[in-house]
Formats: sequence, C-alpha cells, structure tokens
Amino acid sequence: MKIKIAPSILSADFGRLNEEISSVEPYVELLHFDVMDGHFVPNLSFGAPVLACLKTKLPVHCHLMVENPEDLLEAFQKAGASLVIVHVEVTDDLPALLTRIRELGMKAGFSFKPGTSVESILGFLPLADQVLVMSVEPGFGGQAFLSSALDKITAIRAAAPQLDICVDGGINDETARLCVESGANILVAGSYIFKAKDRPMAISSLRP
Ligand code: DX5
Ligand code: ZN
Repeated sequence: MKIKIAPSILSADFGRLNEEISSVEPYVELLHFDVMDGHFVPNLSFGAPVLACLKTKLPVHCHLMVENPEDLLEAFQKAGASLVIVHVEVTDDLPALLTRIRELGMKAGFSFKPGTSVESILGFLPLADQVLVMSVEPGFGGQAFLSSALDKITAIRAAAPQLDICVDGGINDETARLCVESGANILVAGSYIFKAKDRPMAISSLRP
C-alpha cells in the first residue's frame, strides 16, 4: 500500500498556522488536526473555528480526543474536515457514531488508547474507513513511541488487509519503519516534522 505522511499541526507554531502548513504541504498527502477538550485528555488544543481558517488543498483528518464528539460533527463538516476520527472509549454506540459521520458526507475513522485491547476493536474494522492506533497516551506531542502498538498494527492488518491503518505518536524515521513493517500505511508525525531544521528531509526520511 502507498504510505501516506500526515503532519500533526499540534507541533506547529499556532501563531503562523497557514505558513507552517505551506512549509509541508508540497511533500505530504494529508494533514492531521488534533482536537483536545481538556476532559478526555488533559490538554486543550483547537476546534472547528481554527480548522475553518486553514488554507490548504490537502485532505484534513480530524482526530477528536473529546467527550461527546457527536455534538461537534456538524461543525467539523462545515469547517471542511474530510475524515473524522473518534475514540471508542467515549461511546457505547460506535457504529451509530460512524454512520452519523458518513451521513454528514465525511469519511469515518476510530481510534483507541494504548490501554484498550486490540481484540475489543476488531469487530468495528468493517465499519470504518480508517483505524488510528495510538502509540502514545493521547494528549501531547513529543512523547516516546510505545512499542506495544506494533502488535496491534499486525493484528489489525491481518484482520483487514485493505483498511487504512494510521499510527499516531512518537513517529520518527526508526519507529516509522517498524510501523510500516507491521502493516501501517498512514504515519502521523508532529514534533519530528515541525521541530526539524529541514522539514522536507524529515518527511522523506519517514518513507520506506
Ligand atoms: C497526541 C496526538 C498526536 C501528536 C503526535 O495525542 O494525537 O497526533 O500530535 O505528536 P508526535 O508526533 O510529536 O508524537
Ligand atoms: Zn492525533
């Protein structure tokens, strides 16, 4: 499968977001937009009004690390999200949530925290356009990769040979290679790209 690189703008300079996006846009396939509510995760980031101000031709994948994501879906659709990722831990009816995202014309993905077992999510794979494997505790950029993510990626790839499998957290040139070998095809990277002196070089080092 083609490997897609998704810079997480959580590690960009928020005061110059559109310039930051321009600096990576020619080299990547999509953008990753981390939404945090201070409840599901112990941090706050940005929401749909900021998404609406972004100038990009790339698809934007919105990772909602929030409680009650259903309340935000319409706003994200209006702001231009192409795919929305919700967490399994915040809903007892993931199928309904994924259906609602699609009814709004967006693609639907889901994610799960490092402490959530991979067995518990396998049944949802046929319902999603993408699964996002968290390889750090959600909430902050710049954390170290948890290698327990690799076995989860392997199990998901075995169960869903064609699905987009995204990995998020602690991605650098070494962990990217391990994730691709395990079966991931979308790599989210925040600090590795935005803190690099040479961003195009950092991006190309993530590709196999
Ligand atoms: C963490 C976010 C990640 C984060 C990744 O909760 O979901 O997308 O921005 O940052 P790095 O690549 O620095 O680990
Ligand atoms: Zn993310």
